[in-house]
Amino acid sequence: MNNFTEEQYKYIEKIKTITSEYQTIPKCCIVTFGCQMNAKDSEKLLGILLSCGYEETDDEEIADIVIFNTCTVRENANQRLYGRIGQLKNSAMKNKNKIIGICGCMMQEEDEVLNIKKKYPYVKIIFGTYNIHALAEILYKALTTKEKVYEVLKEPIAIVEDLPIENKFKFKCGINIMYGCNNFCSYCIVPYVRGRERSRNEEDILNEIKFHVKNGVKEIMLLGQNVNSYGNDKNDENINFVNLLKKVVKVEELKRVRFMTSHPKDFSYELIEVIKENDKICKHIHLPIQSGSNDILKSMNRKYTREEYLELVEKIKNNIEDVSITTDIIVGYPNETERDFEDTIDIIKKVEFDSVFTFKYSKRTGTKAAEMAGQVDDSVVTDRFNRLLEVVNEVVGSKSKKYINKIVEVLVEDIEREKDMLVSRTGNNYLVYFKSNKYKIGDFAKVKIVKSHGFYFTGEEV
Ligand code: SAH
Ligand code: SF4
Ligand code: F3S
Repeated sequence: MNNFTEEQYKYIEKIKTITSEYQTIPKCCIVTFGCQMNAKDSEKLLGILLSCGYEETDDEEIADIVIFNTCTVRENANQRLYGRIGQLKNSAMKNKNKIIGICGCMMQEEDEVLNIKKKYPYVKIIFGTYNIHALAEILYKALTTKEKVYEVLKEPIAIVEDLPIENKFKFKCGINIMYGCNNFCSYCIVPYVRGRERSRNEEDILNEIKFHVKNGVKEIMLLGQNVNSYGNDKNDENINFVNLLKKVVKVEELKRVRFMTSHPKDFSYELIEVIKENDKICKHIHLPIQSGSNDILKSMNRKYTREEYLELVEKIKNNIEDVSITTDIIVGYPNETERDFEDTIDIIKKVEFDSVFTFKYSKRTGTKAAEMAGQVDDSVVTDRFNRLLEVVNEVVGSKSKKYINKIVEVLVEDIEREKDMLVSRTGNNYLVYFKSNKYKIGDFAKVKIVKSHGFYFTGEEV
């Protein structure tokens, strides 16, 4: 444990002394807006707050502390945040001790912090992506000085290990293998709010995995903006994603390993082989393509062509049986022509993706694309977006039919009470609903797929 971590434990102890004197156990609520990495950060925040003597609630109104963990990848994420803080005004006015905090990617943008300062004075704490580990210290200041604590760092501090963490699910969790991104895709804000790539030490990653597995976790997802460049910032060529995966699968009792996100430019043949040879590695690859047009890909700074992408997909499909490939698409990127858009439609049909996350281009201040002439008209974007959805539904629907009557192994994740069904997931990431009295959340089960509903299946226990 290093000095920073020790310091934070001291603050946790100090807050515990304060909260133990409250008449009732104080409640905390964490609201997550972002991606898996943000969700993982929220688990760290919750771990710290529980250690400080709080208990969790999902009711923002009654919570003594509410923390919004924000995302800024697209404009609508920002709008959602402002709506939610606005709704809390009354309860913040009524309860002067209530602490409303905001952290995460959006807080790395100065203009947003200024806006909050001006329009939402009842927000008491603000911190960014680089100091989420200092929550106890920040909260202690807020509790003891009654003043606002706004602390956003411009650069990352060292990678912090060994602080408390509380998993949202008992049976699965994400594991950060690296932070930040070096790719600077021209539309994307992430490198500006998460900094450059920093890989965690192998040993720390493996220890964390073993810790969670000991506590019942069966499936992990290795997380990074571009997991394929894991280790590039270390001075040791043996430290890379393929070697990491080989070590991770050796953790006994761990049943499934997923990872995300893979950048097509760095997806190696060695990686395909490791996936193919290890039963524990799920046969699902999220491989964002963003666009099917070479001109747009070039302008986006993605560093691959549609031909290279197709070639990679062929290699993956030829080597890994029943692999599912999913992707992200942006429509309406600056200067996207009808021809470019048709190239995107064409590649979706050619690849036959198992699922596609579709986004309308959103202009992010500070990125290269935001400065470009030729921003596409809203009505054109909406029209293309709708046409894209139709094609996606068609492709995904017909692709999924091939699984009908197959027997698959699933991990039960949830219960859908209304339908009285279990919700489960296959290794290649399809959702399967089925009825059962035998299985519970966290169990593996064998299920026969009966019907396809496009994005999910219904099945029967076998
Ligand atoms: N690191 C991952 C993606 C992180 S962001 C990768 O490279 O694939 C998740 C997705 O959000 C991206 O794949 C992209 O499709 C979308 N996205 C990012 N910036 C966007 C923007 N400005 N407008 C619309 N969609 C965007
Ligand atoms: Fe954004 Fe590109 Fe980095 Fe993904 S790889 S986080 S899209 S800059
Ligand atoms: Fe994730 Fe959104 Fe930040 S996608 S990295 S939470 S900007």
